[in-house]
Amino acid sequence: MSGCQIDPNVIRPIRFLNGKCQMLDQRRLPGQEIWLDYIDYQGVAEAIRSMVVRGAPAIGVAAAIGAWFGARDIETESSEEFFAQFEKICEVLAATRPTAVNLFWALERMKSFARANLDRSVMELKIGLEFEALAITQEDERLCKKLGRAGESLIPDGARVLTHCNAGALATGGYGTALGVIRAAVEAGKNVAVIADETRPFLQGSRLTAWELQKDNIPVTLICDNMAGYLMSKGEIDCVIVGADRIAANGDVANKIGTYTVAVLAKEHNLPFYVAAPISTIDLSLSDGSQIPIEERSAVEITHLGDQQLAPEGISVRNPAFDVTPNALVTAIITERGVAQGDYLVKLAALAAD
Ligand code: MRU
Repeated sequence: MSGCQIDPNVIRPIRFLNGKCQMLDQRRLPGQEIWLDYIDYQGVAEAIRSMVVRGAPAIGVAAAIGAWFGARDIETESSEEFFAQFEKICEVLAATRPTAVNLFWALERMKSFARANLDRSVMELKIGLEFEALAITQEDERLCKKLGRAGESLIPDGARVLTHCNAGALATGGYGTALGVIRAAVEAGKNVAVIADETRPFLQGSRLTAWELQKDNIPVTLICDNMAGYLMSKGEIDCVIVGADRIAANGDVANKIGTYTVAVLAKEHNLPFYVAAPISTIDLSLSDGSQIPIEERSAVEITHLGDQQLAPEGISVRNPAFDVTPNALVTAIITERGVAQGDYLVKLAALAAD
């Protein structure tokens, strides 16, 4: 199978190589850069569940590849039987993480292809699905670059930009969404300094955002999550830009836990709060953010740091992985098809229909 061209200087978390897939184990960064091999859909499902790969668009890419692995290994000559088994494989992949809608979007795209081609032979379906998975993988980086260019004019020269979690190359097929806008601003010749929230409890900010920006020589300063308000009050932050896991039709945004807090702080300090996400992150089937399923993760992420116990045995813990920022706190939503501002219900529907 042909794959993406591999340039060692470009950060991409997922590679195709000779019919198998490799993923950069994001749980081990920044200490170790370890690529894990995947050859079947069960392995890919586990990689998504255990956060070897994470970030909404990257989860979608991984799911598409996983679905193709599953399809490739189905043993039947009947297209109907093939599709029945393929749907079951997609169900396993869909059950990995509930919030990032890109997962369901990518699986639906794979299933739609198969559904529309049931008059073809199983062999043809398998080849077609391989191409579809490859297209999803390669499109993602292209869309991020387009999105970056669409949003970079919102970032002034000299801006100090706060970001939360990791919405970068590592969270996508490459380049990133929120960090894609920052990369595009830097490529346009602007000086941009990034302030990265460390993003408790999984530390995507300190482990991943700091790592990838440092690798790209983009100035980045790491802060604890609870410092953002202080820096804003001192006039040391000019705007905020984050990614999204799912955006409801009215512009309410689900993103990494702590995003809502940052948005409230930005409002209090009259700072623009931007969300950068591809169209595939917009879920027009949900009228508002209260309908977005929020993943609850293991208490161990909060009670422990590696092997070290930080909280008393048996303590009651809540660990929602995402929160919802109401549309009223969002200054603009940047997509690869343009920037939505104002009446999100109308503007997002128009962008999605383009
Ligand atoms: O739990 P994660 O690391 O998958 O959460 C990731 C985020 O919340 C990102 O901000 C979001 O997926 C956007 S990635 C371009």
